[in-house]
Amino acid sequence: MVAFVMLCACGHSRQGLSFNPNEGREAELTMPDGEVVRYTAYEHLYYVKHVEDTAYQYLNVYVPEGATKTTPILLRTYIGGYMAAKARAPQAGDATGRALKEGYVVVIPGSRGRNSMQEGVYTGRAPNGLLDLKAAVRYLRLFDREMPGNAERIIIDGTSAGGAMAALVGATGNHPLYEPMLVAMGAAKESDDVYAAVCFCPITDLEHADMAYEWLFNGTSSRQRSAQLLPISNQLKEQFPTYINSLNLKDWNGNPVTADNYMDLLRKELIRSAQTAKNAGADISDSLGFSFSQEEMGGMPPINGGKKKGMAAMRPLQPQRGEYVVGLDMQRYLNYVANTQPLKTAPAFDTKGVLGQMASAENEVFGGTDGSSVNFTVYSAYKNGTDLPKEVVDNVYLMNPMNFIAPAEREGSKAKAKEEHTVAPHWYIRHGARDRDTGFPVALNLALKLNEAGFDVNFLFAWNRPHSGDYALDELFGWLKSIQ
Ligand code: DHB
Repeated sequence: MVAFVMLCACGHSRQGLSFNPNEGREAELTMPDGEVVRYTAYEHLYYVKHVEDTAYQYLNVYVPEGATKTTPILLRTYIGGYMAAKARAPQAGDATGRALKEGYVVVIPGSRGRNSMQEGVYTGRAPNGLLDLKAAVRYLRLFDREMPGNAERIIIDGTSAGGAMAALVGATGNHPLYEPMLVAMGAAKESDDVYAAVCFCPITDLEHADMAYEWLFNGTSSRQRSAQLLPISNQLKEQFPTYINSLNLKDWNGNPVTADNYMDLLRKELIRSAQTAKNAGADISDSLGFSFSQEEMGGMPPINGGKKKGMAAMRPLQPQRGEYVVGLDMQRYLNYVANTQPLKTAPAFDTKGVLGQMASAENEVFGGTDGSSVNFTVYSAYKNGTDLPKEVVDNVYLMNPMNFIAPAEREGSKAKAKEEHTVAPHWYIRHGARDRDTGFPVALNLALKLNEAGFDVNFLFAWNRPHSGDYALDELFGWLKSIQ
């Protein structure tokens, strides 16, 4: 027995990857309220056998006192702007510090991104950043027995491009399309599905984000005043109804969502946002476009008849200050949003070569290892006089979680084996009620599609939040507790 323990002291190697539970470093984090949280850090753990980029392809694990084999794991990516992200240490002010304090194991993976480069080669063009995160999940499963924390309870959390990545990891678990690339990287031969995805303001559904943006903001004074952008905006806006109708979405009550009622659905969701904030004590100015009443109007039926766990919990409480938010002038509200921060240009995402504009971050995401940038929508490629190579079309597909949200037949028959993959059962999706980095429909469509497919979704336009994440941590951690 003694000999066995001594053998284990040198750590564990499997499939060319290793983890040594004896190489932890004791550390502590002082929380904003002065509480000191002690933890053990295991850092610089390479999660692929064939490391291409030593600066990014590893993860750090932080284990608070008292963590066991059943403790959930918060996997927090710091990806922003689709750039490479370093594996960092936990931060007192965000979900990582809070998670440690609550006793969760925290894992912070590095990942390649559109700007990472090794000897002149861009290493992180799509879908490589996503592959890195999937490889990190596989590594956690490979050493699940040796490492504190339960790899079957991984919650991935990210904001913006990181929110998009969290949605992708959540939606594409074990999907065969990524397998050959993961094998080539020397990722662990393990599954890569996760238990929950926390997506703050996901910048996703990139090939439809331009049309959603213009459909939403076309009527704002800033678009209407721009003689240059307005024709582009008008054309993109016209493409959105066909897209929305093709999604066959349903609202929380199961009613069909179409281009004709979509603006009304957004109005209801923004009213729900405002009412929720008002009940918690927020003052909401009349000037934003809301109308108020002492009596509830018929416009807000109970969500899912109050039957469904996730969304039922999100119904606004009874007003505590005697006032219901009963209406919203959408044009006025959208002008307010565009006044808090100037809108993006048109197109908002696939800008390259349209009206002679420069490449956007997203044009680089899909560009080549030589650092090139490319168009990724049919519209902008046409405007730029180019076409969409098959490789770009394929990568755009791999980077859109909307393509992977199949109905929740996760234990499906063998006849469906080819399409079998595992979508995370639990989703927490937030988009700021004054976030203009992408249009409101992007996050809402993701949430509705998941809900319709039978997954547990907690969605809200977070009142008065700009493009940001890891806020309202009491609410987030309350939800995390409720899904354990
Ligand atoms: C991010 C923000 C954007 O507006 C965008 O287009 C892509 C990424 C971000 O903050 O990650």
